[in-house]
Amino acid sequence: MKKVTLTTLLKRKNAGEKLVMSTAYTAIESRLCLNAGIDFMLVGDSVGMTHLGYANTLPVTMDDMLAHTAAVRRGAPEAFVVFDMPFMSYQECEAAAMHHAGIAMKTTGADAVKLEGGAEYAPLVSKMTAAGIPVMGHIGLMPQRVQVCGGYKIVGRDEESAAQVMRDALALQEAGAFAVVLECIPENLAKTVTESLEIPTVGIGSGKYCSGQVQVITDLLGLMDFCPKHAKRYLNAGELITDALSAYAAEVKAGTFPAPENTFQ
Ligand code: KIV
Repeated sequence: MKKVTLTTLLKRKNAGEKLVMSTAYTAIESRLCLNAGIDFMLVGDSVGMTHLGYANTLPVTMDDMLAHTAAVRRGAPEAFVVFDMPFMSYQECEAAAMHHAGIAMKTTGADAVKLEGGAEYAPLVSKMTAAGIPVMGHIGLMPQRVQVCGGYKIVGRDEESAAQVMRDALALQEAGAFAVVLECIPENLAKTVTESLEIPTVGIGSGKYCSGQVQVITDLLGLMDFCPKHAKRYLNAGELITDALSAYAAEVKAGTFPAPENTFQ
């Protein structure tokens, strides 16, 4: 399989293909995504909730992200992998942001980084891009701001916040972002933003008019107790895995596992 690059993704977008992105956090997940034909992968800071047991993304550290991204890269050397900059790895100052993005690129083999924020981060996006680090923007609902927003809410329902989403999208494009995630904005606003940009929009909870979609792999596979409205379960893996583990436990208790074929003499 040929390595997927930024050029590959932009060619697909310009040919009118929808881009498909999934989160992946481990080597096995990235291999499965690649084999399934997923165009590119995000090692999201959602790993905090999906794999690390946190209530939100705020506790996730650079070290967590470095370990998971390196694993994703090992599982799928050909994939285009995006490293999600964790909370407070880029907000403090540009020097720290550049340093952390540089470590992400140099040590994990990531192809790009993603950060949450709009026009206020345009100078940083510009600096990263100039330094050779492709940047994916993320606007609309920004989970790292959950505490100031008082929860996870749809963004852009009123005129002023819709105008802000549009300004942010244009500022990120102007700064050199190669794509922008639109999270939980109304479908018509996502359509207008998508039509106004040259770069791809990648939606989550923002309807069908985006250039592509991103979803959290554990939502797609049915591994979490709760499935958000914007996601769809394509598998009830949680139930299947529980059944398999129950069968294993029952056989050990009953003395039927290991059987002769699982045993060395
Ligand atoms: O961390 C994540 O999974 C994300 C997606 C929701 C886009 O940022």
